[in-house]
Amino acid sequence: MALPESFIQELKMRNDITEVISSYVNLKRRGRNMVGLCPFHGEKTPSFNVYTENGSFYCFGCGTGGDVITFIMKIENLDYIEAVKFLAQRAGMNMPENSYDNSMADLKSRIYEANRQAARYYFKMLHTSEGIDAMNYLRGRALSEKTIRHFGLGFAPAQRYSLCRHLKSLGFKDSEIVAANLAFKSKNGYGIYDRFSNRVMFPIIDLRGNVIAFGGRIMTDEKPKYLNTSDTPVFKKSANLFSLNNAKNTGSRTLILCEGYMDVIAVNQAGFENAVATLGTALTTEQAMLMKRYADEVVICYDADEAGQKATARAIEILRNAGLLIRVLTVPNGKDPDEFIRNKGDDGPAAFANILEKSGNDVEYRISKLKNSYNINTSDGKIAFLTEAVKVLSSLDNPIEQEVYVSRLAKEAGVSKEAVDLQLKKLKGRKYRENTKKEFRQLQSNLSGRDDKVNPQHYQKPRSTAAEEALIAYLVHNPDKSDKISSLLNENGIQTDFNKKLYDYFQSRIKNSLDPMLNISADFTADEVAKIIQITSSYSKSVSTEQAMMEYINTINYESEKISKDKIGQASERELMEYLKKLKEKHK
Ligand code: CTP
Ligand code: MN
Repeated sequence: MALPESFIQELKMRNDITEVISSYVNLKRRGRNMVGLCPFHGEKTPSFNVYTENGSFYCFGCGTGGDVITFIMKIENLDYIEAVKFLAQRAGMNMPENSYDNSMADLKSRIYEANRQAARYYFKMLHTSEGIDAMNYLRGRALSEKTIRHFGLGFAPAQRYSLCRHLKSLGFKDSEIVAANLAFKSKNGYGIYDRFSNRVMFPIIDLRGNVIAFGGRIMTDEKPKYLNTSDTPVFKKSANLFSLNNAKNTGSRTLILCEGYMDVIAVNQAGFENAVATLGTALTTEQAMLMKRYADEVVICYDADEAGQKATARAIEILRNAGLLIRVLTVPNGKDPDEFIRNKGDDGPAAFANILEKSGNDVEYRISKLKNSYNINTSDGKIAFLTEAVKVLSSLDNPIEQEVYVSRLAKEAGVSKEAVDLQLKKLKGRKYRENTKKEFRQLQSNLSGRDDKVNPQHYQKPRSTAAEEALIAYLVHNPDKSDKISSLLNENGIQTDFNKKLYDYFQSRIKNSLDPMLNISADFTADEVAKIIQITSSYSKSVSTEQAMMEYINTINYESEKISKDKIGQASERELMEYLKKLKEKHK
């Protein structure tokens, strides 16, 4: 069951790729293409290209590429059918009936519904006599009824069948409850039991308002302290943030990044609704790119303990690479934000506003950390401190920012600005050379095909692979040459399996008068689609002449006729004679 191509064609026509991508990425014209900063990896100079004329995009930085459907799948975290639905809705089109497999979409909507009902149930249980301890626990942590309601906090009862029984009474199947990770199958294979029991529950809500997961905290010192929903068809831990649904609506372009659920909630209650947290894992690039969509600046507000400071160093790197401005808030006296606010009682909000106001940027934070770890009253200590601090400055790529810190650092350490500058120049020179070398190695490795995951035979057959890719691009751009190519190309000329698959796919579409590229996002995996865009966009229409086509075909034919040494050993007399004859003909 596949969607009719006429529908996909209209969908693509009504969802201009440049227009769609422009609502996520700031695009500028460069020649015939549009370019911008890639939304899928952190970068400071644009390598994300949108090819308006053939409706595709490709990032030379991270190798992501595809058509408008692939783009929506990636940026909105949707599967193929959902992305098509998303675009249909955007263009005011109806989905064709009974023409696609809806089973995954159906399961997902059952999981959303089960989660929503579970959240309602937990919330209700918190307000019954059974939930009294949980309610007291939350009150003990200074949460108001308003905050509890705002976050939809709840209580999972101790009996390990309560939620299951409730959901089943609402008509949910065991398999749906298990798929939502709200329950486990019991070991003896008979029935299911609740995943969360006797815990305070924190629903995790996505940007569309769906309950996608839960965190559950035990109310004693038992372990594990928090239990979270594992990844399900609707939930990917590494791609979501707690309370981003609230934080995105504040109108501020700053987000406060905390470590835990309770920190976010306490910070919210203190009046700062722009707080978010990761979901029990270290910060990922995906999460940083997600924040970048709603913020220009992130205030890292992790725990003051050693683990928190280590996590801060990592987060600085990830957030900087995502192109975000960073400030670091250090909570005094080794507390986390929740404890800090709570300890201040009624003054909590003002006290937090104060430390927030005072938080310095990431460079200041890193330099002050260094300063604390060396004794700069001794000259050895001072030299070591300066050396390390200059390393921090050398990682900045804004020259004005660098200049400011050079002056400040010189003053702080009591040395001349020239001395700091000199040291910085030395380091930058070395760094530049290292980077150039690294880029060169990367390029070399790309060309050799060593990293080609989609076409693993690329590495063994670099010459024919290159010619195959060029020919495939030529074919896609010049479908009128399809017959000519078929007649000139050796029957088993194409050597690599992936390119053979592509070649046959495009040839067959062209022979059936179909637009060769129209349906790639349905017919290939995400990695394959990216590869196809890479191939077809790197040989543009204008440079592919018929003469070039002949060269590609000759190369492919020649490469395919080469007999490898071990093959010669196995060949029969007749095969060898035939081969020699062919060779002679070639050299005439
Ligand atoms: N976490 C987790 N599993 C654990 C411990 C922690 O998933 N066993 C995650 C939770 O998202 C938690 C965050 O890590 O919110 C921070 O953990 P921690 O600092 O230990 O907890 P707090 O947020 O301080 O929680 P509380 O104040 O409730 O003790
Ligand atoms: Mn805490």
